[in-house]
Amino acid sequence: MKPTDLRGILQYIPRFREKIFVLSLDGAIVTEENFSNILLDVAVLRSLNIRVIICHGAAAQIKALGQQQGFKPSDIDGSGITDSETLKLALNAANRLTHEILEGLSTNDLRAASTNAIVAHPMGILGGVDHLFTGKVERVDTEMLLTLLNQGIVPVVPPLGFDGEGKTYRVNSDHMAVAIAEALKATKVIFITTYDGLANRGQLIRQMLAGDLEKILADKKNDLTPEMLSKATHAAVACQAGVPRVHIISGRVDEGLLAEVFSNEGIGTLVYANEYQQIRRAMRKDIRSIQRLTKEGVESDELVKRTRTTVEKQLPDYYIFEIDKHPVACVALHIYPEQQKGELACLYVSSSHENQGIGKKLIQFVESKAREIGLKELLTLSTQAFTYFQSKAGFVEGSPDDLPATRREKYDAGGRNSKVLVKRLTAETTLGTQPSKPVLATLSAT
Ligand SMILES: CC(C)(COP(=O)(O)OP(=O)(O)OC[C@H]1O[C@@H](n2cnc3c(N)ncnc32)[C@H](O)[C@@H]1OP(=O)(O)O)[C@@H](O)C(=O)NCCC(=O)NCCS
Repeated sequence: MKPTDLRGILQYIPRFREKIFVLSLDGAIVTEENFSNILLDVAVLRSLNIRVIICHGAAAQIKALGQQQGFKPSDIDGSGITDSETLKLALNAANRLTHEILEGLSTNDLRAASTNAIVAHPMGILGGVDHLFTGKVERVDTEMLLTLLNQGIVPVVPPLGFDGEGKTYRVNSDHMAVAIAEALKATKVIFITTYDGLANRGQLIRQMLAGDLEKILADKKNDLTPEMLSKATHAAVACQAGVPRVHIISGRVDEGLLAEVFSNEGIGTLVYANEYQQIRRAMRKDIRSIQRLTKEGVESDELVKRTRTTVEKQLPDYYIFEIDKHPVACVALHIYPEQQKGELACLYVSSSHENQGIGKKLIQFVESKAREIGLKELLTLSTQAFTYFQSKAGFVEGSPDDLPATRREKYDAGGRNSKVLVKRLTAETTLGTQPSKPVLATLSAT
């Protein structure tokens, strides 16, 4: 789906309307060329009534300002020791950045306000070392942020905390974003950074259960680069704190923010607190998703082209595999009651979700449906995945003669010469379980 596909975006609107997204921008992104596009994406989110809070870091600017002034800051990202000179530098850099963000939001006709919503106390003395002006979020002024959000104003939160007694502390922006999201029960935290997302041995991780990320942080921390570590740690903390989804994306991709929020594939890493996946019967509204999902497979001749009308006519045969309400795979079971045969068809797993066992789950699902209704044989036709069916799902190669007569006619007329694969559904292949009561008669009557 193209992020600009309005119809595609429409399906998300009821889910996200009035929900809070916390966008956490690395300082380095604010001065990049693509930043104006990010703000344009923010304007789209706002136009869909998504409530956006922007918080930002200032590490890159603190570093640069330090260099300009010939001075080495005692800390760059608000997690080390902030001495008074570094605090001055941080105030300067953060305020400038907040101003740039406000300016950019104004350019997009968005009302925004800089806030002092972070109440902080000193990080204190850790391991005998006083962290001086580095702060820790004590409380988030949720009332202030909600008042702004309710007025349609985008709160902009700098990486600074205030103690209420005239002191300001530097706060790490990742930590701050998570604290805000937790306090406001945000639907998402989106870290917008200079790299593509979390990666394992150079391979981008598309999505990951928070529990799995916690395991990596506990056992294989070194697999993550130092720059990813803070995002990974805070993503895990956010999920533990009740934020359902955390995204880590590059701020250098045009329309990247929209693509991440409004497409199945996304552009970066999604860390999710719990996985909601299910196989369900397809509904009318899914016809488009089935066609969209299978488009690539049709183009590469893995699947036969099905028109909307064909899918519509056989809609009760179709099933959707969805994760988080995103359809990511589909399959159909066409039944030939007289021959007591079923055809597993239109199996397709979106490329972003391949090799996660979804194909096998769908085959098992169709197989158990077929057994449930008393079918004796499952057939499938494949041009490019026949070894998959053989090695992963226990099918054996058959021949066009195995097809029911009506199906054989279509097969001959189609000219695709797909291989025919067969799986006998005998009691023995149920691995000791009793076949369920046949309900074929009921099905064929409907
Ligand atoms: C074939 C397909 C359904 C597999 O789905 P999937 O969810 O990625 O597969 P799973 O996670 O269940 O299984 C992954 C395993 O199958 C193997 N595999 C994937 N596609 C394969 C193919 N076309 N041929 C042979 N093996 C294949 C993988 O290498 C992997 O092997 P491993 O477990 O030894 O590492 C999917 O790639 C697809 O949609 N293909 C295009 C459509 C198609 O051909 N459909 C079948 C016609 S109905």
